[in-house]
Amino acid sequence: MELAGDKNPVRKWWRSAGLALLGLLIACGVGVGTWCVLSAPPSYSPPQNRPIPDVPFVPTPHDIVMEMLKLAEVGPNDVVYDLGCGDGRIVVAAAKHFGAKAVGVDKNPQRVAESLENVKKNGVQDKVTIIQDDLFNIDLSPATVITMYLLPSVNNALLPKLEKLKPGTRIVSHDFDIDGVRPKKVLRVQSSESHREHTIYFWVVPFEKESTR
Ligand SMILES: C[S@@+](CC[C@H](N)C(=O)[O-])C[C@H]1O[C@@H](n2cnc3c(N)ncnc32)[C@H](O)[C@@H]1O
Repeated sequence: MELAGDKNPVRKWWRSAGLALLGLLIACGVGVGTWCVLSAPPSYSPPQNRPIPDVPFVPTPHDIVMEMLKLAEVGPNDVVYDLGCGDGRIVVAAAKHFGAKAVGVDKNPQRVAESLENVKKNGVQDKVTIIQDDLFNIDLSPATVITMYLLPSVNNALLPKLEKLKPGTRIVSHDFDIDGVRPKKVLRVQSSESHREHTIYFWVVPFEKESTR
């Protein structure tokens, strides 16, 4: 039993030794805990809302570009957005052959440099804007026509954004459709450039949903 003001030297010695040991144990515990926190690998949390694959650059053949823009009936009053514009061939064609204003978006700086070069080479700088960004970040509200050559999962992920576009906005997609949304037209065209058949899907906002019976 320990008493305040204890004069017994042996008990006093044991009490001091006990307190010192307790202090040492606490210090070690805090030290080891801190080391564990600092040396643990950083915890990884996967992106919650972006399970979207990367889309490689595969250019649309030029004759198919023309078919896409014709199918959307692009004209001088249109503003065409190409989502993932690659080397800029669709926006250049929209401006050069159909008189439209056009915006190309690509997140890859190499593609953006190629697009800018293409725009300059074809003298359509007054009509075409190239933006380096993720297409999911872009305000699409000025668009009257959207063109895309992405992947089915990317098209599906884009659906909520596309549904918000103003009524009458036309959308054309090369080779890939959108799940659950009925296209107004589907065109199959043989390309003399790629020597294969390409499919072009065409929708107009608001979308007609397929029934899920
Ligand atoms: C299949 S290519 C199509 C290029 C062009 N639209 C065409 O039809 O010739 C897809 C392009 O989308 C770009 N891309 C992929 N994911 C993107 C994203 N999240 N934001 C912006 N660009 C993207 C790629 O860098 C690539 O240039």
